[in-house]
Amino acid sequence: MKKIITSMILFTLLFVLGACNASEGKEAVDQGEKKETLIMATSPDYPPFEFYNLVDGEQEIVGFDIDIAKYIAEKLGYELEIRDMEFDGLIGSLQSERVDFVMAGMQATEERKKSVDFSNVYYGGAQSMVFRKDSGFSGPEDLAGLTIGAQLGTTSEQMAQEIMEQVDGIELKPLGKLNTIIMEVKNNRLDAAILSESVAKAYLSVHEDLDYLPLEGEQAGNAIAFPKNSDLVDKFNEVLAEMEESGKLDELIKKWFEEAQEEAE
Ligand code: ARG
Repeated sequence: MKKIITSMILFTLLFVLGACNASEGKEAVDQGEKKETLIMATSPDYPPFEFYNLVDGEQEIVGFDIDIAKYIAEKLGYELEIRDMEFDGLIGSLQSERVDFVMAGMQATEERKKSVDFSNVYYGGAQSMVFRKDSGFSGPEDLAGLTIGAQLGTTSEQMAQEIMEQVDGIELKPLGKLNTIIMEVKNNRLDAAILSESVAKAYLSVHEDLDYLPLEGEQAGNAIAFPKNSDLVDKFNEVLAEMEESGKLDELIKKWFEEAQEEAE
């Protein structure tokens, strides 16, 4: 399990390098070669779902979503290629069919269902607020008059907007990458960030100056997204069902959410 801890530490250090890799990756891939390879897009700033890690000296995207994607692709007999994008561009890449599917800790919301198709839900979770420990917040009401951040185009951004309707004088800064948002909180340029609780825990395990509180509210579960009417949806659902029955999904949940956190405590 040491490996996972190392990854948690490395992803923060290496996001700059990660961004460089990303632009190379996009150019290197020829749009035409779709036959045996499934192209998945993700935003690898979201541990433990997807983040950069050194694997055998090479920068690689790893995480819970990646393990599931690799498992499904292998079961269905495809090669898998993973592309790094900003979260806000993921739905568009499906609509223009530049990629075959998206796994990005993405919630299957009604609004997104208008633009893309989703698999069955494979994981659930709550939202949370992350802040500097010394702020000592005890709830969203403490954010009155302060500046908060959330990742552009996410359900966390929506949650931030809901908080703003209830608490006075909050300024919201939506940003493209979550690593940046976390750094802005650390450096006092943001007072808090809204993000998923499981991801908050992963960031907190390497940033001891930060703290978090879970937020209330119904959340749609995480699912895999596809272009509308993709014939992959049923195939993926079959493998997901098999993973649930066989205990494979539980094994991966343990690996990425439970054991990693225990080690970090
Ligand atoms: N769960 C949120 C949503 O569905 C945020 C997902 C952000 N994912 C990422 N890989 N950065 O909108």
